[in-house]
Amino acid sequence: MQEWDARKLVEEAYAARAYAYAPYSGFCVGAALLSADGRVYRGCNIENAAFSPTNCAERTAFFKAVSEGVKEFAAIAIVGGKEAYLAPCGVCRQVMAEFCDPERFSVILVKNRAEYKIVSLGALLPEAFSKQDFS
Ligand code: THU
Repeated sequence: MQEWDARKLVEEAYAARAYAYAPYSGFCVGAALLSADGRVYRGCNIENAAFSPTNCAERTAFFKAVSEGVKEFAAIAIVGGKEAYLAPCGVCRQVMAEFCDPERFSVILVKNRAEYKIVSLGALLPEAFSKQDFS
């Protein structure tokens, strides 16, 4: 049984979305990343006039955590800019694969506060290239 509260993480993702900086797409995204020791790292998307430096909400959350020495994670909740499930982009899936076990890390895709679904990272990114391939 999962030891964390999915609904609470969904609320954290909504709170994170409030700080999205998305003047070009108008598509605001929020993410809440739960570390293995129970801390929550919020992230939002941060766009840029040059477009390519744009950072997704999920990576913002991961980079905040990793930059503080936290590298073990249990789950992430992601809220997109519409009332629809937002599946993380390929780059964000790859960043998740760097730090998370594909079978144990849960990705919570949020449609609205009452409707969300939980999928494994392995389901989103099967056969991932990862640090295991180096050893
Ligand atoms: N975006 C995210 O933050 N996460 C995703 O998984 C998909 C896309 C952002 C990037 C950009 O600021 C906006 O959504 C439109 O692509």
